[in-house]
Amino acid sequence: MFKLSKKLQALPAYLFLEMDKAKRKARAEGRDIIDLGIGDPDQPTPSNVIDALSQAARDPANHRYALDQGMPVLRLSIEAWYKRRFNVALNPDTEILPLIGSKEGIAHFPLAFLNPGDVSLIPDPCYPPYKGGTILAGGAVHLMPLLEKNNFLPDLKHIPFLARRKAKIIFVNYPNNPTNACASDEFYAELIDFAKRNKIIVISDLAYSEMSYDGYKPRSVLEFPGSRDLVIEFHSLSKTYNMTGWRIGWACGNAKLIAALAKVKSNIDSGIFSAIQLAGVAALATDQDFVSSMCQLYQKRRDILVGGLQSLGWKVIKPKATFYLWLKIPGNLDSISFAARLLKEADIVVTPGVGFGKYGEGYIRMALTMPEERIKEALQRLKKIS
Ligand SMILES: Cc1ncc(COP(=O)(O)O)c(C=O)c1O
Repeated sequence: MFKLSKKLQALPAYLFLEMDKAKRKARAEGRDIIDLGIGDPDQPTPSNVIDALSQAARDPANHRYALDQGMPVLRLSIEAWYKRRFNVALNPDTEILPLIGSKEGIAHFPLAFLNPGDVSLIPDPCYPPYKGGTILAGGAVHLMPLLEKNNFLPDLKHIPFLARRKAKIIFVNYPNNPTNACASDEFYAELIDFAKRNKIIVISDLAYSEMSYDGYKPRSVLEFPGSRDLVIEFHSLSKTYNMTGWRIGWACGNAKLIAALAKVKSNIDSGIFSAIQLAGVAALATDQDFVSSMCQLYQKRRDILVGGLQSLGWKVIKPKATFYLWLKIPGNLDSISFAARLLKEADIVVTPGVGFGKYGEGYIRMALTMPEERIKEALQRLKKIS
């Protein structure tokens, strides 16, 4: 009787929910599933953050609507963190906006700038909300294939004239989910030049900036000259501080873009629970040793999984950042069939590449969010079926 809106009908199914269903069914059958599918840290949130939350939750001053654009103390912490980490100075009143997780801001941002017929330039494969947010805002998607031969960077020179003309937004995400690729300084300089010439807003998704290995340090697009005119950057506390369930992140960058997103949000949500904002302040003040120890943990797992897969004959690119392996599927099964085969024959969950877009076909993604023994067990099981 009630017909879904055209926008909702146009949205692809959210892959991770589908995967979760298959996984839960397998578990309900009593099978010992090793989940290398979803990128959700298995380690706990640091205890100073939990203490800050429990203390703040007891204070009635924090129980009311948090209607300001994020608590001033949180915006000041973000300002200090950015300065420390990237040597970029931000105005905490106009250039920083706390979010209920970065996904929330990323998905809502297109509502601020897209009219029907406007285009978002979106990498493919990609984190799904770039497409979802664009479609829900009534915009059109132009895909920029991320191909191995281009180091999984979009080929800006070959974006067709019409797409460039209609584009209002370009999404970039480095370190990248799902391909784990990292952007070079040359790419960011080219991106800013491209966006300036074509009057396009750059959305930089930096959710994985703190998870890097072998001495590599990802950069912010806001470090590059000219960026302040057209860049909005999205950050998350989710992966850095093992806080995926807490829902806190932020946007920063050009003041006009920040104000526009704040206006959209003021019509949709009523702020982040103040106690969680204060926990966010504690997270950003966490000793850097915590983040380093997480990186060491993932690096060790990475080396075990990469080494094990290579010894089974898989072609593996060793990631410099993120906690994902992006793996070319051995043989000629498509990614959904291959993932289904791993679940059926080895009780291993991986993410089929096509779930991130059509150019993800031929690949699967494995996440390093499982303890070492489980990764070793997964390798044993893969050996048995290969
Ligand atoms: C590339 C990328 N961006 C953003 C997010 C969203 O993070 P959150 O909404 O938890 O801040 C994720 C989560 O997986 C991600 O992979």
